[in-house]
Amino acid sequence: MAQFKNVLIIGASGFFGNLVLEALQKDSDYTLTLLQRTSSKTRLPEHLNILTIADSYPIEELTSAFEGQDLIINCITTLSVKDQYRMVDAAIAAGVRRYVASEYGLNNMNPKAQALNNVFADKGKVQSYLRAKGDEGQIEWMSISCGIWIKWGMAHDFVGMHVRERRFVFWDDGEGLFSCTTEENTAAGLVSALKVPEETKNKNLFLSDFAINQRQLFDAIERIQGIKYQIETIDSEKLIAEKKEAEKQGDGSATMALIETGFVTGKFGGHLEKEGVIMNQKLGLPERILDEVVADALKSLGVL
Ligand SMILES: NC(=O)c1ccc[n+]([C@@H]2O[C@H](COP(=O)([O-])OP(=O)(O)OC[C@H]3O[C@@H](n4cnc5c(N)ncnc54)[C@H](OP(=O)(O)O)[C@@H]3O)[C@@H](O)[C@H]2O)c1
Repeated sequence: MAQFKNVLIIGASGFFGNLVLEALQKDSDYTLTLLQRTSSKTRLPEHLNILTIADSYPIEELTSAFEGQDLIINCITTLSVKDQYRMVDAAIAAGVRRYVASEYGLNNMNPKAQALNNVFADKGKVQSYLRAKGDEGQIEWMSISCGIWIKWGMAHDFVGMHVRERRFVFWDDGEGLFSCTTEENTAAGLVSALKVPEETKNKNLFLSDFAINQRQLFDAIERIQGIKYQIETIDSEKLIAEKKEAEKQGDGSATMALIETGFVTGKFGGHLEKEGVIMNQKLGLPERILDEVVADALKSLGVL
């Protein structure tokens, strides 16, 4: 089966979309188009084809933007993943061959993940929608579960890492196992997967550089920085009950707290080695080790 040629990225101005754009630009095989909202403030590279779209992503505008594209790579922001139903429908209407969903997290097909918060539920339901469309032969799809991005996590005080305050928060005993992949390996894995279109068609691919628990993450941070952190502990059951109630009232920060709980406790589909086959080796990704990834993340924040 032929390789993809015309590729459109949604959310290329965002954190992960930008890494995907960089990875694709290394390969002259692709003709790239970037779809950006009219309100977006970020400047994208001017030599690329940039299409603008109303912020509500109307289906007519999506369909016309997708005409002639072989592949849509969606890197839309976390709290907007629900917008993807229209994007999938528009991709089908425009005759796009493959749609890559904005997943890049844990295994959202795990019922426990879907029951935990709105974003995991939406991502899982979008994946089910794609699975049905794929089975009917209307479109090919692909998505990637990569676990936690440690560098992103450290920059966003995620999963207990408050390095600017030298503070670390454990969920319960901190022993739950979770998978991690670097942001760079996630983007490289996506690009490699596109090179083997038959093997990766209609699949959610699992990536993991390593699986660790919070104790190991904490030890690595303290050891590498050579300083002592203040420690706190969260009771995850109590947190889940409180945040689920707040999420029902429309509190987006409660959803984010439930997302980190899902990742870090290992009980909601975040330990990917238990969820499916890890594809790192098959996709030729370089091995990464915890200390090296933690050191890179600390350096990127200027605290090492
Ligand atoms: N595994 C992990 O640790 C991890 C961590 C973070 C995120 N993720 C996942 O990775 C994917 C991409 O996340 P990201 O953090 O890279 O996204 P992001 O930077 O927050 O946003 C990506 C793009 O989404 C577009 N967008 C559409 N509607 C928007 C809205 N209402 N508000 C803001 N931006 C909007 C924007 O593109 P334009 O401005 O160009 O229109 C934006 O640049 C998501 O699925 C997310 O859940 C995973």
